[in-house]
Amino acid sequence: MSCEKSVYITTPIYYVNDIAHIGHAYTTIIADSISRYSRLIGHDTFFLTGTDEHGQKIEESAKAKGKSPKEYADAISATFKNLWDDFEISYDAFIRTTDEKHKIGAQKAFEVMAQKGDIYKDVYSGHYCISCETFFTKNQLLEEEFCPECGKTTTVVEEESYFFRLSKYQDKLLEWYEQNPSCILPKSKRNEVIRFVESGLEDLSITRTSFDWGVKIPESFNDPKHVMYVWLDALMNYLTALGYGSDEVNMRYWPARVHLIGKDILRFHAIYWPAFLMSLDQPLPKHIAAHGWWTRDGQKMSKSKGNVVNPKEVADAYGLENFRYFMLREVPFGGDGDFSQKALIDRINSDLGNDLGNLLNRLIGMSGKYFEGTIDSKDIVLYYKDELAQVEESIDKLEPLLFEMQIHRYLEELWRPLSIANKAIDKHQPWVLMKEGKTDEAMALVALIANILARVSVMLHPVMPETTRKIATALGFEIDNSSWTQLIIEKSMLASFTITQIPPLFPRIEEVKLEQAEETPKEEKKEASSKEEGIALIGIDDFFKTSIKIGTIIEAQEIEKSDRLLLLKVDIGEASPRQVVAGIKEFYSPQDLPGTQICLVANLKPAKLMGNKSEGMILAAKDKNGLSLIRPEAPKSNGTTVG
Ligand code: MSP
Repeated sequence: MSCEKSVYITTPIYYVNDIAHIGHAYTTIIADSISRYSRLIGHDTFFLTGTDEHGQKIEESAKAKGKSPKEYADAISATFKNLWDDFEISYDAFIRTTDEKHKIGAQKAFEVMAQKGDIYKDVYSGHYCISCETFFTKNQLLEEEFCPECGKTTTVVEEESYFFRLSKYQDKLLEWYEQNPSCILPKSKRNEVIRFVESGLEDLSITRTSFDWGVKIPESFNDPKHVMYVWLDALMNYLTALGYGSDEVNMRYWPARVHLIGKDILRFHAIYWPAFLMSLDQPLPKHIAAHGWWTRDGQKMSKSKGNVVNPKEVADAYGLENFRYFMLREVPFGGDGDFSQKALIDRINSDLGNDLGNLLNRLIGMSGKYFEGTIDSKDIVLYYKDELAQVEESIDKLEPLLFEMQIHRYLEELWRPLSIANKAIDKHQPWVLMKEGKTDEAMALVALIANILARVSVMLHPVMPETTRKIATALGFEIDNSSWTQLIIEKSMLASFTITQIPPLFPRIEEVKLEQAEETPKEEKKEASSKEEGIALIGIDDFFKTSIKIGTIIEAQEIEKSDRLLLLKVDIGEASPRQVVAGIKEFYSPQDLPGTQICLVANLKPAKLMGNKSEGMILAAKDKNGLSLIRPEAPKSNGTTVG
């Protein structure tokens, strides 16, 4: 097949504030498999991944590590790139938002949007979650303070900002969703987006002035204190990677066939991004496909819980391609999935070992024993027309499933021919055929099995490239665009061919102890969930990461307009007292607090609450009878460590 189509496939660009975990690996492996399929069928394919390196979150993470943001970003970006190289991810470009070319393209877009009349200057006043790099209105917050996405404390921001006229695009967006039923996949997610947009879009603040780790807005604005909002900068990567705003334009790949993302970043991709593109007069992507969330033992993975699954460790322990197959097969696209080694081992031993590996072993055995490995396909249609028709029916269903991101169903459907093959052997019993002298019929059966395995390995190739290459070698052919055309499109048979022995592909696997991904023993798990309401158990080292100190409240006052918060000064034996904002106003009057000893979490990152810096958290316990501060039983010197 000729390269008549240009196909562009992207992953999100990953934040460089953390190393890769299986959630990142999942998106990347899906994108890699689709790209490999697209290349196999002869499409001119461009697969983009990379890292998202600007913003307040990265700036703060770098500071905490004593590094400059760029040094920090360089180091973490390299860990992503190295991991994808290790995993043989077939990306065509790895973009970094600190690349000069990207910055120029993002600035160009800012100018074009401004020329279009879509950017204006005003004052932003609202709440910002640094962790999610997202603005929220007061109504969206939990208890008027916490981020509705991640639960962390938000910061009150009031600063001069440039705005994008998102509201102007509300109707055009709704029209786009309406006219393109599969623009957001899975389709259930599209309905969520439509409901959100119908409820009304506000203009979007797209610059920040309170930090400077970002792309500066174009010089023509003569306003150097503004850097671009990290999501505008980040989304632009999909265009700048193709040279948008520079001389080396590769825009033949635009619009993207699919932007693969996780469900948590759907709003940015399905609302902001198409609106930005409309403003830039660019065509819109064909699909935005949002997958679900991987959890571990039913809980969100996070470093602080110590339950992050390291994809490299899993791949080293169980085989990279087995891991790829597992991730794509285990979870319906769009749904959440829980990582468990047991499920992984079951898939390897059952789907791969029994259904696929054993079939190949049976084929090698039969062809060697009865025909010295030399097989002819000429009589398959004569004896096994029905089986062949069923196999073809399954194979024909595959491509649309892949391009509609139904990858688990693609693999499920691909296993049907294997089951047909295994059943055909059991039903027709080649050893009986041989005994009865029906050599042609036995030969046709062996050839049928070989041809089924050939077709399955071609279609499985994008997910398990190396394994299927080995199967093809055993069957005496190569997987490439021409064998795909012959076997899948033209439905030709392998002609006369020789089957050779290869080592078993899926030796039986037992559980391996993973360092980071160690499973909590069942008993402990039960205890943890009943005693601790589902909070994961931690090691003592984790506990000691928290520095809790005894302190004395030396000053307490109300915060204007706040029903919950008090502003405290706490002496914890340092040169100056800590300022702490505490949600205890309903239970304590400011005049009763000075002189009270408390326990203070002293190594929390400072946060801003209602415009006041808070440098720690006071420990308290709350039940139906009210809230009590946690205090030492007898007075202790300020600064004494609790633990
Ligand atoms: N930098 C932004 C994306 C900008 S794209 C223009 C970002 N980065 S991220 O590193 O936080 O997340 C990248 C992707 O990883 C997201 O699609 C997110 O959904 C996915 N995942 C992060 N944790 C995940 C799981 N536990 N499970 C599955 N995917 C999850 O967001």
